Amino acid sequence: MSERKRYVLAGTGGRGLGMFAKPLLTNFTKYCELVGLFDHNPDRIAAANEILGSKLPGYTDFGEMLRSANPDAVIVSTRDSTHAEFIIQTLAAGKRAISEKPLCVDGKQCREILAAAKKYKRKGGVCYVTHNMRYGPAISELKRQLDSGVIGDVKAINFHENLDRKHGADYFRRWHRVKKNSGGLLIHKASHHFDALNWLVGSIPVDLVAQGGTIFYGKNGPFRHDRCDGCPHAKKCDFYAEMWSNERNRKLYKEAEKSDGYIRDGCVFDKEVDIEDHAGVLYTYKNGAKVTYSLTAFATYEGWHIQFEGTKGRLELKEVHDTRWAAGNITVHGMEKSIGKSLTLYSPREGLKELSIPEAEGAHGGADPAIQHDFFGRPWDAPLTARMAPLDQAVQAVLIGHAANVSIAKKSKPVKVQDFLKRG
Ligand SMILES: NC(=O)c1ccc[n+]([C@@H]2O[C@H](COP(=O)([O-])OP(=O)(O)OC[C@H]3O[C@@H](n4cnc5c(N)ncnc54)[C@H](O)[C@@H]3O)[C@@H](O)[C@H]2O)c1
Repeated sequence: MSERKRYVLAGTGGRGLGMFAKPLLTNFTKYCELVGLFDHNPDRIAAANEILGSKLPGYTDFGEMLRSANPDAVIVSTRDSTHAEFIIQTLAAGKRAISEKPLCVDGKQCREILAAAKKYKRKGGVCYVTHNMRYGPAISELKRQLDSGVIGDVKAINFHENLDRKHGADYFRRWHRVKKNSGGLLIHKASHHFDALNWLVGSIPVDLVAQGGTIFYGKNGPFRHDRCDGCPHAKKCDFYAEMWSNERNRKLYKEAEKSDGYIRDGCVFDKEVDIEDHAGVLYTYKNGAKVTYSLTAFATYEGWHIQFEGTKGRLELKEVHDTRWAAGNITVHGMEKSIGKSLTLYSPREGLKELSIPEAEGAHGGADPAIQHDFFGRPWDAPLTARMAPLDQAVQAVLIGHAANVSIAKKSKPVKVQDFLKRG
């Protein structure tokens, strides 16, 4: 009997094709068969088939897709705010939902998904979220070090995320820039970080307070136009960007945008921007560990700095990327020297040790091939690995961002994170 299971990709955007459809059609054919594409825009399905060189059946109606394609699993890679409805329908049909992060965009959607998982449990449906940050070689090594007890019990964590004016700005060009689509960066982006911290610490968040705002993009810009294509300010704007990697993709996407109006090169200074471009979150884990988290989406360089202080020592992970100031590829001269990754142990007993970070190839520092292997490179019923995020863990990542959004909206009011499993 064939061990291959039937998969449908929901959401034929950049991530859906690169992370899921292409690998399923090439590297993971032993256990997986991609049997269809779902998207609300038929032009995007047609473009996906052209890019993939495939003739997969396309569906614009999710229920019809479940009935006709009869997949064993649905990979959900649509806009964040739509994950919940597709996950719930997949669970109701007793199938496996594999969703991109974030699981969803707020506490209400978390509760709805959890209720569906409970209601349809007997039908056999399950949901996992592809939290790929857990699979990064540096984060995996950090986890090994923490679990070895080398710094004792973790007491305090600082996590500083810097998104530069190229990568960070991209969230202000597209659907992410509207909170109802993405939950804002504290959900869309920080769900990576909150999930990784939950996993590294092995506890759940309890008390939280946050502040944040839009202080650089959106209405703060000196000028604006609807999009970069044809922008009269192009010559003087650091954020002018050509979004297409080649002429074929440019044509395909320009054709597809005619039917749904979704553009990829929207102006970062558009007044519709309502997500924070800077935020700070303070929270406490149930085991007592304290977190200071910050996110800046207009940073001069890209990277992160994560510090774990324990009862016996300290671990620091620092990554500085080959940064590009804004879309015009303006580099920061002299920065070359500081580019790279380091994982440092500060131990009163062992002294200062630079720990080695394993090398890995592939997207997101090698995280994507590793997570693809866990989900698609093993038999369907292989046991979960420790890095595969089940529903309850994916919920916790969203709850922190949601709690932070609520706290910010209430002028930094302290909130109880787990209360959002019940209401709010
Ligand atoms: N894990 C990671 O590192 C990572 C990286 C990038 C994106 N993502 C996630 O992947 C998902 C897709 O992101 P993307 O960058 O490919 O976005 P995208 O905009 O390129 O693609 C989204 C696709 O979903 C479709 N879509 C939107 N609303 C829909 C609806 N209501 N019904 C059906 N289809 C709909 C769009 O037509 C589009 O084809 C998002 O959830 C995002 O958060 C994860």
